[in-house]
Amino acid sequence: MGILEVKDVGKRFGGLQALGDVNLSVQENSCHAIIGPNGAGKSTLLNCLIGKLIPDTGSVLFDGQSVLGRTPYEICQMGISRVFQTPEIFGDLSVLENMMIPIFAKRDGAFELNAFSSVFAQRDVLEQAEHMLAEMNLADKRHMHAAAMSRGDKRRLEIAMCLSQNPRLLLLDEPTAGMARADTNNTIDLLKQIKDERDITIAIIEHDMHVVFSLADRITVLAQGRPLVEDTPDKIKGHPKVREAYLGESA
Ligand SMILES: Nc1ncnc2c1ncn2[C@@H]1O[C@H](COP(=O)(O)OP(=O)(O)OP(=O)(O)O)[C@@H](O)[C@H]1O
Ligand SMILES: [Mg+2]
Repeated sequence: MGILEVKDVGKRFGGLQALGDVNLSVQENSCHAIIGPNGAGKSTLLNCLIGKLIPDTGSVLFDGQSVLGRTPYEICQMGISRVFQTPEIFGDLSVLENMMIPIFAKRDGAFELNAFSSVFAQRDVLEQAEHMLAEMNLADKRHMHAAAMSRGDKRRLEIAMCLSQNPRLLLLDEPTAGMARADTNNTIDLLKQIKDERDITIAIIEHDMHVVFSLADRITVLAQGRPLVEDTPDKIKGHPKVREAYLGESA
């Protein structure tokens, strides 16, 4: 039994079967990659894992509890954090201010914009944010506008914001999309370090096979909303079904 159990999940959007018969078992403290061509249903599946989408059929259990119908706050309380496909940071705020938001929200139970000005009076929040930025090698950028950072550093900040919640499950939707090779390699190193140093399970969606093979313990290949094959990276490399799924797409 994995820490995350997806059973017979199906999801339709009108006439489109975006997911069908998806079964997935993610083992605790492993890194599980979900790969597949564009439109395979990867982000839809991730949205089902955080309760954002409710599948038409099936169940999603995290540590034995259903995630379906939960609010984002409840999902966070359960120990699940997610880095979205499109970066979700406040570009007009500084790196430090961004870092303070989830810490403040965690402490006070909910984040209210009108309470934000009082954040600066909260020394413990500030200290925790500074500490997390130092741990993530972002300390020297703390007064920069978040929008001005490189794509790699934006991702690093988002991951730091997620880690401030002490998640047991970290979900990443294409964390290296659109990155230069140097930023991609930095992100791989960061995720390896997180994997080694923390008690954490990682589920990652990724198109870049260099990233997948550097990090994953197991890989599920999705095609047209269905799991095509699930195995270790060694077995997935050169698997005929994987080549078939990616035919016409550079993998
Ligand atoms: N809210 C929605 N309404 C209607 N169709 C949707 C919706 N979300 C996704 N789809 C469709 O469902 C299918 C799966 O989409 P999804 O975003 O999960 O794919 P993906 O594997 O994440 O693709 P990519 O690699 O491009 O990010 C696609 O055909 C997409 O157009
Ligand atoms: Mg997607």
